Amino acid sequence: MTPPTTQQTAQPTAHAVHSGRDVRDARDELRRLLLGTGALEPAWVPAFDAVRRSDFLPDVMWPHDMATGRSRTVDKARDPDAWQTYADSDCPIVTQWDDGAHNGPEPGRSFSSSSSMPSLVFSMLADLDVREGQRVLEIGTGTGWNAGLLAHRVGVTGSVVTLDVDGVVATDARAALQRAGLPVRVLHRDGYLGFPERAPYDRIIVTCGVRDIPYAWVEQTAPGGIVLVPWGTYYGPAEATARLVVAEDGRSASGPFTRPVGFMRMRAQRLVRRQHAAYVPPGAMDRADVSATSLPAADLDGFVTGLLVRDVTHVADREREDGRRAVWLYGLSDTSWAAAVFHNGRKQAKVYQSGPRRLWDELEAAHQWWESRGNPGYDRFGLTVDRNGRTRVWLDDPDGLL
Ligand SMILES: C[S@@+](CC[C@H](N)C(=O)[O-])C[C@H]1O[C@@H](n2cnc3c(N)ncnc32)[C@H](O)[C@@H]1O
Repeated sequence: MTPPTTQQTAQPTAHAVHSGRDVRDARDELRRLLLGTGALEPAWVPAFDAVRRSDFLPDVMWPHDMATGRSRTVDKARDPDAWQTYADSDCPIVTQWDDGAHNGPEPGRSFSSSSSMPSLVFSMLADLDVREGQRVLEIGTGTGWNAGLLAHRVGVTGSVVTLDVDGVVATDARAALQRAGLPVRVLHRDGYLGFPERAPYDRIIVTCGVRDIPYAWVEQTAPGGIVLVPWGTYYGPAEATARLVVAEDGRSASGPFTRPVGFMRMRAQRLVRRQHAAYVPPGAMDRADVSATSLPAADLDGFVTGLLVRDVTHVADREREDGRRAVWLYGLSDTSWAAAVFHNGRKQAKVYQSGPRRLWDELEAAHQWWESRGNPGYDRFGLTVDRNGRTRVWLDDPDGLL
């Protein structure tokens, strides 16, 4: 079960950051790049040209390098060329840390609001299939850039409402949208509830990672409308966008996963699990069941694994100096745990399991099932939110059982 391909981050080079001419050209280059990869559809070019990302970014911001996981501080007052070049490059930019509790120019502990990378923004807008005159609800306002692009696209005959759970983020986005002259209603609200006052919507787009899809989003979308939502399991951070089409009776929504993504999590849906020691107290390894596995460590990561092994989260330790690397599974419904200790260069890993569930055995069974179905990737799976509000994952066919 290989991990999904991550969105590549094209970071500006040092040359691009410091040359005035390249700064001017950066936006044209970004347009060419996005058109070349197909992320930017021709129908979205007028919005790309009219609604500039830089108009929505704060003076101090933190472009994020997804390959290294590092963020750097860029201050418009100190280095306006670098600031502008990052604004016009295909990289995600963190705009808030630690739910706003963090102050100062250094990066905080965890990012809590950002401007997503433009290739992802436009790919999702293409999946959303928005037309002029439509009513759109966005959940996760962030900087307001995506809402501004949507407002440009739907025009005066359409309407855009956007919700953010963070009051400061919503206020800043509202101000930026007003300065840009874009008619968007920005509300400080928990997007989990949607916004029934303006329903039904033709489109709902969610720009934070979701683990539990509320039925309210289906109810607030018109029949035939689309709910586009980055969804994943608590197995790990990997997600994919589910493109759900609301049924004619308006009571369910179903559709395939369209692309692998990695969003910051909806606030109330962040994983809070027991500490390691609550699962594995001192001496627990000696009392655990011991077996062996020949599953490759690389196959244990990823979105698809999370679809198949439910109520489990995993942590992969870094490789130690002696070449050993442990992968831990923790049950989320009880304190079952498993660990596989891989040695660099050895085919077999030693497995430890304990608790009411045998999590490693579940993982092996899931892996066998996955191989028996031809090693399907994320794009053969899909989601249905049924008329009872339950979310069901399927393979190939919405009527099929997983
Ligand atoms: C990746 S950012 C959104 C990017 C944004 N669409 C843009 O154009 O810049 C995710 C946002 O989701 C917001 N968020 C998290 N949980 C939320 C919730 N329950 N309801 C609404 N917004 C939420 C965060 O505060 C954050 O601003």
